[in-house]
Amino acid sequence: MTKSQIGVYGLGTMGSALALNMAQNGFQVAVTNRSPNWMTPFIKEAGELADQIQPFDNLEDFVKNLKTPRVILFMIPSEKPMDMMIDLVTPMLQAGDTIIDGGNANFHDTRRRSAKMAKNDLHFVGMGVSGGESGARNGPSIMVGGTDHSWTQLKPVLQAISAKFKGDACVDHIGPDGAGHFVKTVHNGIEYADMQAIAEIYALLRDVDSWPAGKIGKLFSDWNDGPLQSYLVEISGQVLQAVDPETGKPMVDMILDKAGQKGTGRWTIIEALKLGQSANAIEAAVGARGWSSEKQTREVAQDMLKPASFETDLPGADDLESALMAARILGHAQGFRLLQAASDEYDWNLNMPRIAEIWRAGCIIRSSLLDDLADAFRSDLPQNELILAPAIRTRLDASIGALRRVVMAAVSNGIAVPVLSASLAWFDSIRTARGSTNLIQAQRDFFGEHGFRRIDKSGDHHGPWNG
Ligand code: 6PG
Repeated sequence: MTKSQIGVYGLGTMGSALALNMAQNGFQVAVTNRSPNWMTPFIKEAGELADQIQPFDNLEDFVKNLKTPRVILFMIPSEKPMDMMIDLVTPMLQAGDTIIDGGNANFHDTRRRSAKMAKNDLHFVGMGVSGGESGARNGPSIMVGGTDHSWTQLKPVLQAISAKFKGDACVDHIGPDGAGHFVKTVHNGIEYADMQAIAEIYALLRDVDSWPAGKIGKLFSDWNDGPLQSYLVEISGQVLQAVDPETGKPMVDMILDKAGQKGTGRWTIIEALKLGQSANAIEAAVGARGWSSEKQTREVAQDMLKPASFETDLPGADDLESALMAARILGHAQGFRLLQAASDEYDWNLNMPRIAEIWRAGCIIRSSLLDDLADAFRSDLPQNELILAPAIRTRLDASIGALRRVVMAAVSNGIAVPVLSASLAWFDSIRTARGSTNLIQAQRDFFGEHGFRRIDKSGDHHGPWNG
């Protein structure tokens, strides 16, 4: 029996889909799973592709039957189970072998695991995979963090299985150790902001103009043929038009408004704060999911707290479309700023246009905007700020007025639009040369003698607060 080119451990949804994708692309894949009774249904699902797949019911045989230097992709929960598997598999490996964590891991864990494995001349790759089950099966976007050696091993298979944007494979070597997982984390942060901004527009149409779900879905589907073209707008259009087979009502109307989250959005914010950044649009989206889960409090509060007086008409569909576009640009810009801050902090030398490019297909935030962002990153960027690139300024000039009108209408109607308003607040903060933190500095100096800088001379100064 010839040895396999790659091994996949973990035949859950994502692991199975990636293994089948590899087999479909002509690679011989060894597979195994913690519980071996998952194997038979998987091989059955593989159908004709089973010829390309070698199943093993124990880890040792699985490892022995891989070509060296070995490549093993682990698709298992990225916390304790990953550490346990590293300990278990390490004695079976030899110098030059690579193991990959293809889950949504915290990049700090990935850095720690890479350093630990490097001590034994082994390589650890933190690989961000985006696109859900269908992406994993048919072409995901893949963000690889690890050594050059691992990238050389992985490149042929990952280029083959990844999504293609006009023939360009949506995969790249992002940087060392945790870089791939960090970029995937920020991808998810942007995903949270974009999803929430879309939901806010839905809320305005539903609650101010009383549009039924299907009509809103149709509008989103129309928008998807324009500048807002993206996977998230496309699926929002589809889900809003779906009907619940049990009640005949719009499916979305039957879904409880409590959103789950697995952690990547929260990690984005935690890292942003640690890096001295504010990604307030992403934070607003994470916070909105948190508040959504306080359903009981919201139900009680609805009758106890004063509502708004419904004063301003909701702007028309063109304004809503432009407002969503402006918020999308600003949410992405915050994500990319965070990537730059982490790149500087960890010496990753992240290639921003390339990251935008590998997000153009396969991943959840894929959109026509990303192609424009990739071009913008390659143009003249004053202050290294994406929102100051000429093409992006032009787009913001055209859409920011609409965002203002939509936020004003939302505020006057008492509809919470945390992401739309946070995006606008950030935009206004960043374009204001003279802000108000001179007063913050004075307050700090008053109660804590923290000192301040003056606008007319150098050095640290104190105010005449105590007479
Ligand atoms: C992707 C997704 C995927 C997933 C996350 C986020 O890029 O394919 O981001 O990784 O949807 O699990 O999920 P939560 O919304 O549960 O945090």
